[in-house]
Amino acid sequence: MKSIKKAVFPVAGMGTRFLPATKANPKEMLPVVDKPLIQYAAEEAVAAGVDTLIFVTGRNKRSIEDHFDTAYEMERELEAKGKKEMLEVLRGILPKHVNCVFIRQSEALGLGHAVLCAKPVVNGDPFAVILADDLINFSAKPCLSQMVDVFNYQHCSILGTQTVDKKHVSSYGIVDGTEVKPGLMEVSGIVEKPDIKDAPSTTAVVGRYILMPQIFEKLETTKRGAGGEIQLTDAIAQLLQEQRVLSYTFEGKRFDCGSKLGYLKAQVEFALEHEEVGSKFREYLEELTAVEKKKVVNMRKKT
Ligand code: UTP
Repeated sequence: MKSIKKAVFPVAGMGTRFLPATKANPKEMLPVVDKPLIQYAAEEAVAAGVDTLIFVTGRNKRSIEDHFDTAYEMERELEAKGKKEMLEVLRGILPKHVNCVFIRQSEALGLGHAVLCAKPVVNGDPFAVILADDLINFSAKPCLSQMVDVFNYQHCSILGTQTVDKKHVSSYGIVDGTEVKPGLMEVSGIVEKPDIKDAPSTTAVVGRYILMPQIFEKLETTKRGAGGEIQLTDAIAQLLQEQRVLSYTFEGKRFDCGSKLGYLKAQVEFALEHEEVGSKFREYLEELTAVEKKKVVNMRKKT
């Protein structure tokens, strides 16, 4: 079985929850501290051994292409000014052995359709899918590397999952199945955005997949599902009728950067860990918290 060398990044969504920021820019270019979301995702893929990054882009593709392309003029200017550190940052966005491929999804017909657009490049290999707006912080190992480890001994599709609060199940693809060992479950069913009363569990698929190439046959015949979109979840439901699909509860903290609140939380937590600004930012937050606490006490005194 081949190892995972290709990763698909669907970046053609409308990003309506983030308008107007996403009017002319894909949400995957929103920065968390000093890197756009898509760069965190690309770094996670490369760390897991991926050497081909396949971006499925929409109408706002330019900025993502530019981000991963060489910026000759800027490099020359930094060189002339002797700004070596910044030059290294610019040149180190991707290692030299990594290739980028850009595919256009002409209409935003859903995540499943976006993944299907990558079929000609994936070319019959097992592959990863990363949704860059699900930003995952880790302590020991990045999420996709954990999943590749599982894939390398299970040789089947793996869905990255986390347990969510019951009241949030209707926002996710929810899986049903039998535990093989702690954190690993053999999936027997999957349903996209179920009502609380119909949800088979609280185990939600969150933006990381390793898929066998047979998923494309399923996507080709998948009809529009939840929200009128061609859903990857529906194709996975078909796939697991024929082959083993596992879900893996990864270690790490996930931020839903497609929502404003999730994005703000990511900013705060990544800023606190940032080498350059972390300690100053912590001081600032402590001051701010003290001021806010005083305000609350004063308000309580008045009422
Ligand atoms: P979302 O469900 O978050 O949709 O897509 P969205 O359109 O990006 O955002 P909202 O809900 O309007 O705010 C999940 C992922 O699938 C990609 C998105 O870019 C995101 O990474 N996607 C979605 C596509 O590439 N194409 C599509 O047709 C739909």
